[in-house]
Amino acid sequence: MVLAVEWVESPQPRIRLLDQTVLPAQETHLDITTVDGLVAAIQSLAVRGAPALGAAGALGVVVAMNQASRDGWDESRLQAEVDRIRLARPTAVNLAWGVDQVRGAMTQGADQVLILARGVVTDDEAANRELSRLGADWILERTGLERVRVVTHCNTGALATSAWGTAYGIIHELHDRDRLGLVYADETRPLLQGSRLTSWELTQDGIEHVVQVDGAAPSTILRGLVDVAIIGADRIVANGDTANKVGSVSLALACARAGIPFVVAAPSSTVDLATATGDDIDIEQRDPEEVVNFGGRRTAPEGAVGFNPAFDVTPHDLISAVVTERGVVEPANTPHPTLLARIAG
Ligand code: MRU
Repeated sequence: MVLAVEWVESPQPRIRLLDQTVLPAQETHLDITTVDGLVAAIQSLAVRGAPALGAAGALGVVVAMNQASRDGWDESRLQAEVDRIRLARPTAVNLAWGVDQVRGAMTQGADQVLILARGVVTDDEAANRELSRLGADWILERTGLERVRVVTHCNTGALATSAWGTAYGIIHELHDRDRLGLVYADETRPLLQGSRLTSWELTQDGIEHVVQVDGAAPSTILRGLVDVAIIGADRIVANGDTANKVGSVSLALACARAGIPFVVAAPSSTVDLATATGDDIDIEQRDPEEVVNFGGRRTAPEGAVGFNPAFDVTPHDLISAVVTERGVVEPANTPHPTLLARIAG
């Protein structure tokens, strides 16, 4: 199975990242031994996807502690460097969550922090496998179909997690149960996580799919070509509002109009009960150049300025189900400010 984030002990302790900026053309790895290297990998999306960022954040604290020993940082410098990892991207709550899972053990030494960080990685895989079973059960019961045709957005597979995947995990689970129809994978502008990464994973797993431009998705839904939309999440807040890759909300609006379920799948580490509503989520604004260039060439006229929010927020009343490893809640049916507490970590 593909591993996006690994800890490697020798010859030098390091995080080993599968470099997702160059997939699927090249399968190369990055060796991360410094905080600068990790922050650059996170911000360039060499490592990406909310749960994978949580794993990188937790292991990143070990990297920071090792670098502190090598470079002679004092405690305040070390804490500042850990904060730099924690804040490297703002929207996926898992990054800060992963750092916070291990930070309290820093006084006990790097070995203890590494044990906890490895726990973050293994717990994530277990959560993803469980939520995939629960999500597949819910979808099959709700649709009553023999085979379910799916649309998904961005990449939520093993590449975006410690292993297995979230929304992708449900798709995989439906495939394993021989209950999956055609999958429509949105290409996911501007960085093409859908066409580069999801299609690569679907191909490796032998799952029949097509890649469509993001703008096709609402029409695919309204034409009755799919039975359910399944997406991942970067932050699910207390009222159920959900941040995910920009373009997700167009699927949700179309699903509501078509009367088909819109399902959000994420480990409970993505649930942020401390944030009340989607209005309070910090949406990452990325480099405008990502929008006005394509394939290394400028496509918009000189002087045109890109607008590049990396995520959008789907209001909870458009979300049929939020699936975590702790269960399923239905925000559109049962809106309640504390609904998510049932399935939070
Ligand atoms: O900018 P990215 O590629 O990190 O965005 C990823 C997404 O939006 C995913 O859908 C989300 O993190 C869930 S990954 C299981």
